[in-house]
This record gives sequence, structure tokens and C-alpha cells, in this order.
Amino acid sequence: MPFICRPAPTDNPRRFVQSRTVASTRNLEMVRALGADHVIDYTREDFTQGTARYDLIIDNVGNRDFLDLRRVVDPQGSIVTVSGPKTNAFLGPLSRIIKMKMLAPFIEQRLVFFVANIGAPDLELFARMMEEGKLKSVIDRRYPLAQAGAALDYIVGGHARGKVIVTP
Ligand SMILES: NC(=O)c1ccc[n+]([C@@H]2O[C@H](COP(=O)([O-])OP(=O)(O)OC[C@H]3O[C@@H](n4cnc5c(N)ncnc54)[C@H](OP(=O)(O)O)[C@@H]3O)[C@@H](O)[C@H]2O)c1
Repeated sequence: MPFICRPAPTDNPRRFVQSRTVASTRNLEMVRALGADHVIDYTREDFTQGTARYDLIIDNVGNRDFLDLRRVVDPQGSIVTVSGPKTNAFLGPLSRIIKMKMLAPFIEQRLVFFVANIGAPDLELFARMMEEGKLKSVIDRRYPLAQAGAALDYIVGGHARGKVIVTP
């Protein structure tokens, strides 16, 4: 789900106080409950065709072309992507990184591919933030280890609504 943000008129230009989140109809309420300011239903509205302009897009899906995304990002803005199209079986998300590198010199906006570097300190931080209620997680399904294959099939299907847990 891409998250798109607009900074508020504040003295601190680094403080993002308004965001828009893109989700399907069935996920709208879940995303609102997680704290989204405004939600765009992608089955009814294409956010790349609207008149709104954004300072930052965080693309968690990777199904949109950079050229579509940049249309709605301010020239000084950034597009951060964590994912790539699932259509290129050979290159996978690499196809998106290669395209990004090739386009970057010709695009004013900043293009960033973010890769998580998850280690114990990060997981401890997430656990603390959850305990303090600063971070919420949605668990969609739980599978026993013996059904790990089914869990992976479900994730690869691309429609899991949150985390999928495999328990030993
Ligand atoms: N860079 C990294 O370090 C890193 C680390 C982990 C994961 N990833 C990537 O991050 C992505 C997100 O992972 P995930 O675990 O959340 O799984 P995911 O399978 O990509 O996300 C599934 C969710 O996205 C929704 N969705 C599908 N198409 C959408 C669209 N066009 N707009 C908005 N929402 C859409 C689905 O609901 P509907 O089908 O109802 O729309 C479902 O709720 C994956 O592509 C994964 O490869 C990157």
C-alpha cells in the first residue's frame, strides 16, 4: 500500500502531519483503524491521475510505473519504493532497481529503493514501540510449521491483509 504524505504548514518542514494511504475497498476500515488520515480506494480512484501533489510517496506495492508516480510528486519530493512488480520472474524486484538507476539522472525527484536491514536491535525497538502503543500490527492468519508451504502460497498470492505467522 503506498503511503503518500503532504507536510503541514508548520515551521518544521520535516514534520509530516498529513498522509494519504491507498488501499482496496475491503481494507479501507483496517487502514483507517491503523491511523491513516485519508484513504484512497484504488478500485475507484487512481491517485496518479488526481490534482493533488505530494512531497513523499512510499510505495509498498511496486505495481506502478515511476513515470506515473512522479506526475504527482513535487519536483523537490521523493519516491521511496520497497517493492517491485511481481511480473518479472527472472529479475524480480531487481527489475525495479535497474529501471530506477536508469531513470534517476533524468528525473528531478529523488528515487530511493529501501531495503530493510532487520536485526535484533530493530526487532527490540519494534517490540518496545508495540508495548508503548506507538506501533500497531495486523495479524491476518496463523499457520503451524507443518503448513509453512500453505502460508508461503498465501503470502505470494499478494492479498494477505497484514502479517502471516508460522508457529513451531
Ligand atoms: N525492501 C524490503 O526490505 C522489503 C522487506 C519486506 C517486504 N518487502 C516487500 O514489501 C511488499 C509488501 O509486503 P507485504 O508483506 O505487505 O505483502 P503484499 O503481498 O505486497 O501486500 C498485500 C496487501 O497489499 C494490498 N494491495 C495489493 N495491491 C495493492 C495496491 N495496488 N494498492 C494498495 N494496496 C494493495 C493487498 O490487499 P488487496 O489485494 O485487497 O488490495 C494486501 O492487503 C512486498 O512486495 C514485499 O516484497 C520489501
